[in-house]
Amino acid sequence: MDKDKYIKSIKRVIISQEEIQTKIAEAGRYIDNIYDGRPILLVGILNGCFVFMADIARAVTVPCEIAFMSAKSYVGTESAGEVQIILDIDRDLSQYHVVIAEDIIDTGRTLKKIAEILKNRNPLSLTVVTLLDKPDRRVVDFKADYALFKIPDLFVIGYGLDYNGYYRNLPYIAEFQEK
Ligand code: IMP
Ligand code: MG
Repeated sequence: MDKDKYIKSIKRVIISQEEIQTKIAEAGRYIDNIYDGRPILLVGILNGCFVFMADIARAVTVPCEIAFMSAKSYVGTESAGEVQIILDIDRDLSQYHVVIAEDIIDTGRTLKKIAEILKNRNPLSLTVVTLLDKPDRRVVDFKADYALFKIPDLFVIGYGLDYNGYYRNLPYIAEFQEK
């Protein structure tokens, strides 16, 4: 990866670190209010969740365990359409209030599939929280219970979101445009 190209492809910041932190605190209160002291299992969808999930885990005050899943559905900026589970959770979900933490809902395919799989395991409850939502891009019917930001149809990077593996560590969310 060429350094100039790397920097120039970060077109513009669309959501600042401060804006994200404000919304994270609100999302933490949303989860706290739903569960009211009952323990939750926070399930992150790797790799995109890793920054957001760490924030959400620290924003809630209910007792919280964490677990990870991984699904593959994307190549470059094109949605491949197929969702494959790469990493699964090995616990009995019937004992847990499950809260999914996702980076972005785009076509909706990934979360629709993962939510179906987890629901079939009869968790005590299932709540889906996503950092970003691109409703214009939806091809399957799926709605998060809570979306911190709704964004237009742009390809975005940062705060866990990547382009070909890079930019996940940017502390803000930016529009990507390859240079
Ligand atoms: P889906 O299309 O809703 O199944 O989203 C699948 C995955 O595509 C997300 O979890 C992200 O990893 C990735 N994705 C979708 N839109 C973007 C984007 O704008 N930037 C980076 N990754 C994205
Ligand atoms: Mg993802």
